[in-house]
Amino acid sequence: MGSECKESGDVDSSQQDAASVADVSVEVSTVDHTLKKPCRKYRRTRRKPKGLSRLWAHLLSVQHLAVIITAVVFVLVVILWSVLWVFIFRHEGNSGVYFAGMFRVANVEFIPEYRQAESHEFVSMATKIQHVVSGVYKMSSVARLYKHTIISDLSTNNKGGVLVHFWMVFEVPHLKSVAVCEECVGIILRDSVHTNLKNRSSVGYILGLPVDIDSILVNAVQRSDYSFNAAGSQCIDKLYASLPVVKVPLNIFSSWGGVRCHVKLTAMPGFLIRLTVASFQIEPSDSASVCVSHIASQPHVTGQIYSPFHPSLMPPHCFCTWIFQTPDAALGVALLLHNYVLKPKDMKGCEHGWWRVNEVIFCGTYVGHESVFRIAERSAEVEFRCTSQSAAQPFRASYSSYNISQPCPENHFLCSTGLCVDKSRRCDGLDDCQDESDEVFCSRPNKKCDGSSPLHPLFVCNGEMDCANGLDETNCTQETSCSAVSYRCRSGSCIRKKNARCDDVADCQDGSDEHDCACGLPVPPGSPRIVGGTDSEEGEWPWQVSLHFSGHLICGASVVSSDWLVSAAHCFGKDRLSDPRRWRAHLGASTQGSPGHVAEIQRIVVHEYYDPQTLDYDVALLRLKRAWPASLGPLVAPVCLPGASHAVTARHRCWVTGWGHRSEEDKSLPSVLQKAQVSVMSQTECKKTYGPVSPHMLCAGVPSGERDACRGDSGGPLSCRAPGRGRWFLIGIVSWGAGCGRPHLPGVYARVTKFTSWIYDHIS
Ligand code: ARG
Repeated sequence: MGSECKESGDVDSSQQDAASVADVSVEVSTVDHTLKKPCRKYRRTRRKPKGLSRLWAHLLSVQHLAVIITAVVFVLVVILWSVLWVFIFRHEGNSGVYFAGMFRVANVEFIPEYRQAESHEFVSMATKIQHVVSGVYKMSSVARLYKHTIISDLSTNNKGGVLVHFWMVFEVPHLKSVAVCEECVGIILRDSVHTNLKNRSSVGYILGLPVDIDSILVNAVQRSDYSFNAAGSQCIDKLYASLPVVKVPLNIFSSWGGVRCHVKLTAMPGFLIRLTVASFQIEPSDSASVCVSHIASQPHVTGQIYSPFHPSLMPPHCFCTWIFQTPDAALGVALLLHNYVLKPKDMKGCEHGWWRVNEVIFCGTYVGHESVFRIAERSAEVEFRCTSQSAAQPFRASYSSYNISQPCPENHFLCSTGLCVDKSRRCDGLDDCQDESDEVFCSRPNKKCDGSSPLHPLFVCNGEMDCANGLDETNCTQETSCSAVSYRCRSGSCIRKKNARCDDVADCQDGSDEHDCACGLPVPPGSPRIVGGTDSEEGEWPWQVSLHFSGHLICGASVVSSDWLVSAAHCFGKDRLSDPRRWRAHLGASTQGSPGHVAEIQRIVVHEYYDPQTLDYDVALLRLKRAWPASLGPLVAPVCLPGASHAVTARHRCWVTGWGHRSEEDKSLPSVLQKAQVSVMSQTECKKTYGPVSPHMLCAGVPSGERDACRGDSGGPLSCRAPGRGRWFLIGIVSWGAGCGRPHLPGVYARVTKFTSWIYDHIS
């Protein structure tokens, strides 16, 4: 206990003090011997204290004093902290931070009852989803700040399933506001989706709920719900288009600040919403977006990294750092990039993202396929900077650790794209690696028709009898696993017949291979700026279009539907050329100057991965302002789009057509549409001539070079006719070549089968 200034044996004789003496004797047993000296001194200089004054003196003793001061300071600190908490931090920190977002729940059928928030069906579905979202945030690093989530709407889109719209609130002290940044909150939700990398689907599970990871969108917003239309909540609105055709004004002003605005538009059942943007103002943004994260990767643990604002476009300025650490020196870091590749930096600057990976510089490029970038080190510091002049495509990557000494699993082949493909896929005639690196140095496929080993995929069900016993063309409508060599029916199932589309035989169980087949039929259906070509007859190529910029014939194009044309991206590459108002499409012509129809262009869609340097992805779509009049048929008619598996065989007849120059030296353009028959070459042959030709290109020509496309033919069709007077398919788009009509230098075309789904995504 406290200090005591009496020693044992120092007993007062007076009666009064008897009690104290008894007390003292107890306390004395704990006296610190070090205090004996000062105590004696004290005893000598002062009168013996009595009663209160004795207690006072007792308290004033040195040890007591220290304890009292400590206690007082402690109490003061507690009071001060409570006052600060009540008046400053609590007051400041209780500001709500709101987010609105959405995601798609797959494998759930949308029912009309979900449109009514009061319905039993809505409530039970919303409660279930709310539970899941809350579960995610309550288990996250921001659990203490998370308040609640409200499911505001359930809707649907053409991807199926149910689109869930929600908003949520965090209660955040200002000091911690960075912890609930828009990106962080989105990443928490995305990271909680457990996807199965094997089936390559974007649908994974959050606590048993099937969620499409690509659909997750989270935005910071000003308010937490859609029910306020009054001042102070301009940025969140609910608008009903309750009468068809009547316009509902929607005004959003940039002065409302940097947050995203959420407006919910609702139309009557059975009606679509047309949103017309009358004007919008683009503001330059100087503020750089910054993201930093530390990722310790366990073996087999994977996760995702995203470009800033994913899935929205990336800003022109941004800076991200990811630091990876694997648990073992034998494991490196692998990044599976979904639409992007990293290449060592060359003399040119990086236009689509600058990367520094452990002090080595790389440039990013967009591609239409996956690639794997491996860092053969245990820890990796990856720095990324946005380098586009304007907003750029977003990217996403999955990370994992990998075995440095054996990057691919056993029996797998390592592609130059970093992907691993089964060894059996090497030299099977298919581009499994996405850059054809599995198809180089391959000997000619030999036809083993005795059934002893699986037939080379090139020969299977291509409509050509390659084996004398017909083995390659049996059971072709049999369902098979979906791949680049099988035809995908609308139902989603696949059959072995490669060229099932529009061959006048219903091959799919649902007959979908013969739907929308009003295409590829010329008039007359007889014989079928081109080098070595001949004049075409009227109506022979009814899909052929000439494109005129400010009155000058620049390129060709092909009609693929009543209001869409397919052409080459390089026709619209330069600034002025990208303005649709200055272009006119001449349809239904065989002689220049007398078109059946002149159409205005509403929109030009250049492929997002078009590379003007390499001419990779040289494809563009043009939407007409108005559909061409049906009365123009049969002089105007669409060409058939090939299925992605479509194979051009030796029995196909391919022609290139256009009003381009007839030779390299030609000074004038022909007035009659020219046609020339050419042969599609194997990719191996094509590469022998031109070196690294992309998988999105194909070569066609004749060895002597006497028949070829030339300047002015670009964007026009390479049309191939299915054997046996079948329909005409658009197989190539005139793209480039070394000169025109030179021997052993074929023309190079954009390979349309690689763009089939891209085209359908835009035109349907
Ligand atoms: N780039 C050319 C154009 O703009 C087409 C060249 C095709 N050349 C060839 N030899 N096939 O019209």
